[in-house]
Amino acid sequence: MRITNLQLEAYKRDGFLTLEGLFSLLEVEAMRAELERIQKIETDHLVRENGSNIAKTIYRVHEADGPTASPVFHALSRTSRMLEPAQDLLSEELIYIHHTKCNLKTAIDGSVWAWHQDYGTWKRDGMPEARPITALVMLDEPTEINGCLYFIPGSHKVGSLEPEFNDATGYKFFVTPKDKLLEIMARSPEPVAIKGKPGTVVFFDCNLLHSSGHNLSQHDRWAIYVVYNPVTNQCHDVPNPRPDYVRSINTKSIVKGSDNIFFT
Ligand code: SIN
Ligand code: MN
Repeated sequence: MRITNLQLEAYKRDGFLTLEGLFSLLEVEAMRAELERIQKIETDHLVRENGSNIAKTIYRVHEADGPTASPVFHALSRTSRMLEPAQDLLSEELIYIHHTKCNLKTAIDGSVWAWHQDYGTWKRDGMPEARPITALVMLDEPTEINGCLYFIPGSHKVGSLEPEFNDATGYKFFVTPKDKLLEIMARSPEPVAIKGKPGTVVFFDCNLLHSSGHNLSQHDRWAIYVVYNPVTNQCHDVPNPRPDYVRSINTKSIVKGSDNIFFT
């Protein structure tokens, strides 16, 4: 599935591109069933909501081995529907997966992600440049009340901002400092809610400012994120690297697989 010049222009301008209906409801059902299965596994590849046994994030579902391995997500991340747009938007043929993460923002309990740029964390992984692209696959219908993502359109153009390591939202990670954020917001378009039907895929730049709110609704908001990085931009050695399930040491370029995610 190749990207048109118009789509490429929109991606460069806004820092994201939405492709509706990329996966069918049957395919989404298969992905959801996989997450139902994997979330019961006891492993460090899975983070639970504070003080509960509810899964918040599940990592490394795209490889053929490991505790959270899944044939469905292995196939998903290699379909032409995922791989070709990522290659086109990056203008790179040889790309690998830096990580996959599934955010199960569950009804009532699913919590906030503060404003941040993903490259703030990946820079500390030893990633030379802000190149990766993330493909977000909606497994439910994200809405404002169930904690959809918000993007600040065009904010990827501000470049990589120095983040602070903060646990103000109950989960410690690299977030954008408030004063910097307010300064950028004052001269940017209003943030947009990233909503869509299950099976929609949104590609976004690793410097795009994004966040999401608490899930106040009775409905889960599940999504998977596949992060593609050019092979030429793989991480160099750093002291105390993060584990392989968030900073992949498998940097071999992804070979396109079948578009059938059920039987590969
Ligand atoms: C993230 O930005 O890493 C996760 C946000 C979300 O899933 O709501
Ligand atoms: Mn993020």
